[in-house]
Amino acid sequence: MKRILIPLLLALTLSACTAPEKKNAPAYLDPSVPLEQRVEDALARMTREEKVAMTHAQSKFSSPGVPRLGIAEVWHTDGPHGIRPEVLWDKWSQAGWTNDSSTAFPALSALAASWDRDLALLFGRSIGEEARYRKKDILLGPGVNMGRTPLNGRTFEYMGEDPYLAAQMVVPYVRGVQENGVAACVKHFAMNNQEVRRTETNSIVDDRTLYEIYLPAFKAAVTEGDAWAIMGSYNLYNGQFNCHNKRLLCDILKGEWGFDGVVVSDWGGCRDDDEPVTNGLDIEMGTGTDGLTGSGNPYDLYHLANPYLERLKDGRADEAGLDDKARRILRTIFQTSMSPGAHYGRFVSPEHYAAARKIAAESIVLLKNDGVLPLQIADGGSLLVVGENAYKKLTVGGGSTNLKTKQEIIPLEALHEYFDGKVKVSWERGYVGDITTTFDRVDTGQDLRDERSPETLIADAVAAAAEADVILFIGGLNKSANQDNEGTDRTQLELPYGQEEVIRALAETGKPLVVVNISGSAIAMPWADVAGAIVQGWYGGSENGRALVDVLTGAVNPSGKLPFTVPFRLEDGPLKTERQYPGIREEGQRYWDEYYDEGVYIGYRWYDTQGIPVQFPFGYGLSYTTFEYSDAKVAHKVVKGAGTTAVSEATGSGKTLQTVTVRVKNTGPVAGAEVVQLYVADPEASVDRPAKELKGFQKVFLQPGEAKTVSFDLDRAALSWFDAGNHSWVAEPGTFQILVGSSSTDIRTTAEFQLK
Ligand code: BGC
Repeated sequence: MKRILIPLLLALTLSACTAPEKKNAPAYLDPSVPLEQRVEDALARMTREEKVAMTHAQSKFSSPGVPRLGIAEVWHTDGPHGIRPEVLWDKWSQAGWTNDSSTAFPALSALAASWDRDLALLFGRSIGEEARYRKKDILLGPGVNMGRTPLNGRTFEYMGEDPYLAAQMVVPYVRGVQENGVAACVKHFAMNNQEVRRTETNSIVDDRTLYEIYLPAFKAAVTEGDAWAIMGSYNLYNGQFNCHNKRLLCDILKGEWGFDGVVVSDWGGCRDDDEPVTNGLDIEMGTGTDGLTGSGNPYDLYHLANPYLERLKDGRADEAGLDDKARRILRTIFQTSMSPGAHYGRFVSPEHYAAARKIAAESIVLLKNDGVLPLQIADGGSLLVVGENAYKKLTVGGGSTNLKTKQEIIPLEALHEYFDGKVKVSWERGYVGDITTTFDRVDTGQDLRDERSPETLIADAVAAAAEADVILFIGGLNKSANQDNEGTDRTQLELPYGQEEVIRALAETGKPLVVVNISGSAIAMPWADVAGAIVQGWYGGSENGRALVDVLTGAVNPSGKLPFTVPFRLEDGPLKTERQYPGIREEGQRYWDEYYDEGVYIGYRWYDTQGIPVQFPFGYGLSYTTFEYSDAKVAHKVVKGAGTTAVSEATGSGKTLQTVTVRVKNTGPVAGAEVVQLYVADPEASVDRPAKELKGFQKVFLQPGEAKTVSFDLDRAALSWFDAGNHSWVAEPGTFQILVGSSSTDIRTTAEFQLK
């Protein structure tokens, strides 16, 4: 018996170790078969019911595959800054997993402030790896809505106020994510530029403004980044909800841009039974099911569930439309979990922390420095840190970007770590802002209660300053309601919680004062004169404290530049009326109309054209070294037919018409990086155009004394405006000015050329 059993067991073990025969595997299961063939093969095997099932959620964050055919379900996850902790199948509450604490990467406004395409790629790659490890197929982000008002509660999730900057940064991010077999779902398409009444606001925008300002970053994500998914936004445009907006989704996204990926609704953003069938929505997510306690599966009640099936059965919807949705979803599945290169990803790895720290440090913007930075405190000296944001953990909160992170190094901890007892580091709160430590049941474990009155808090901080060599104030906003937060907008541009009084009181001590503002959006700084140095920090994620200390101590020479303007006052901005913001509603009208009367004039396009002074301009940021610009030259490239090439694209690479070169030299004492910015002005245009528009930038790293020639290629797209009447881009003959500089107002060298 034994004699027979052993060889038999051996044979069985051996056969279990050999790869299964793939010979007769259907084409859709064979990763070596071309994508479109797999899609068609799978589609041909599916029933109508199976196709409809794929078009709507089965849980809070997943939508079905085809279980019968072994086609994987689709797992979606927030968000652009880290992988969201698991929630319950059908509830927003935490699932209570103990293996879902992720790396927190910096917020996207920080990434934009790095003006570094390589870092955007690194960000995308790193978060894509985390998504893959957590078995997520669609990453809900990045967001590229434009900074129309600094009050928008989600400014921290977006990439600033300039369409070119956002377009340049979103493309490598998307590519990096998707290298991992994870779809980037670019959001929120489109004109979701405020949180106030976000589901009831109808954006009224002219076509020139739409094409020049609000679409380019989305378009670049699709046509250059090859984004596999797009999320429709909550608001309406032209009176139709954007999750099933025919013009945006069918005509522009899938028509003009040829998008072949999936359109995913924002959670609960699908609002109708009919429109989603025909108007470009592919997957309906988040329509409320809590409370739908009737019998059966509540997800069957989704607009794209039973109501869709009924329409197909009685001929009100066609099978071709359903096949189109199913094809797109299958394509996504075969590009992600069932893709040929599917791998396992990586999670909270040392490389991810290093990436988070690097991105966070490179994004910090030095706004003012009278010489107090980098910090030079002799051993035995003393540093007084004041302010809630030196201590409060900021990765928790903010809405769907809320994270449960394995590690968050707060600034105070990083300062102790750096000075290591050689300099005395003490902390005073200075003010009490937001004492909540919990969001969506993720708790930071901190106790932020403090019963002291505002006067006492200030008095305590001032008293502690007596023995300090330097005072470091670290305040700003946080992620609670009416701060940098989804679902609400800010109510003021000024710092909240009486921080201005704290800053002024600290300045009066006469001690060197550094103010670090941590926020995701611009704040007014009427106190700027009293601070010796001002630093714009961000929600920097897991390594925020260390990144900040890197810059404060000079280990990293700051090279971040503002991705938005910091105005003196809110009133200086382009939104002057209620009809512009937050919108108006006539009696009896269901939704609020919001008129984009300012047209293309948002951000620096407004301030610079109007000649309105600002606290700190777009693109601004200092260094511990200095840079000298010289020799701007335009070399006309002879391109056959260049003068007559029709322009149909605003972004994207066309034929190079002009090459602009400029020499940049590091004239200071330390190595550093400068973001060289190129703006184009078209003073002879037949329509009003902004005084200048960003059309190129490059970050150059220079040793002390080193000089490099930076070169920019300009195509017709860089010279064009959108002619709504003819629905085309126009580059008009005439003189164009090239303005090269260190910010939108610090133009160092200029050149001109004629477009014939
Ligand atoms: C947000 C999206 C997010 C989704 C899922 C929505 O409320 O607007 O940005 O991806 O929820 O959490």
